[in-house]
Amino acid sequence: MYQHCGIHLQEGKEPFLRARLGKVMRRLGLASLAEYVEFLRTRADAADVSQMVDALTTNYSYFLREPEHFEFLVRQALPKVLQPGQKQFRIWSAAAATGEEPYSIAVFLAEYYPRVSGWDWHICASDISTKALAVARRAIYPADRVAQIPPDWLRRYFQRGTGRWEGHVRVKPELARQVAFQRLNLVGNYTHPQPFEVVFCRNVMIYFDRSTQTELVRRLCRFVVPGGYLFTGHAETLNGLNAPLRCLRPSIYQRL
Ligand SMILES: C[S@@+](CC[C@H](N)C(=O)[O-])C[C@H]1O[C@@H](n2cnc3c(N)ncnc32)[C@H](O)[C@@H]1O
Repeated sequence: MYQHCGIHLQEGKEPFLRARLGKVMRRLGLASLAEYVEFLRTRADAADVSQMVDALTTNYSYFLREPEHFEFLVRQALPKVLQPGQKQFRIWSAAAATGEEPYSIAVFLAEYYPRVSGWDWHICASDISTKALAVARRAIYPADRVAQIPPDWLRRYFQRGTGRWEGHVRVKPELARQVAFQRLNLVGNYTHPQPFEVVFCRNVMIYFDRSTQTELVRRLCRFVVPGGYLFTGHAETLNGLNAPLRCLRPSIYQRL
């Protein structure tokens, strides 16, 4: 996991590994973690690695998580970073998991930067987990997962399921269309054709060690326009990483 996606699994994680990998190992006919590691080293193909990543990543997320970021985005960050007359901008949700984060951003943008008023924005949403991305692309969630979204926003941006989808909601296609999902390994090789006005990279750096975090943050900075913003998770501090960023508040940074 460390080699492939930077995730640092500390000593003492064996019970976690056994619980998460049990099914995968049984399917492969492997009896122990040692056998599984041996399998990964000698015979695993890309699909096997992807299966390991799906099993061992934590894709936990929820709508409007750390809500002050979204408020800051629409009220402070965008008004500052957009040039006079600039109506087009792009946002990257860099560890999008099952989609709640990019769709929360989309809801806020639809409210404050409506396309009918000529705003033209897109959200690039990426994650390393294929399984999480499949959920994100489907854009269907159990109704209790959207309980914290104000009722008028729910009516505007979500459809209630009926029949076999009773008890579920779906992000309306016209909003979901604004979010493009892609598989991207933050510690692998990647580039973007244009930098973003704002990057969300939240609650993923906690899984990385300091050197991986340093490299990642410096790299992310290359994809943020000067004066643009980087949001991290509340538990993730970038102090001392020596990156071209100014800390505005804990977890909110501006590109120098
Ligand atoms: C806890 S979720 C965070 C979701 C969302 N950003 C939030 O704050 O609610 C962490 C996500 O990071 C993803 N992840 C872990 N390592 C990654 C890597 N090397 N590249 C891309 N995504 C990665 C995991 O698959 C997981 O979906």
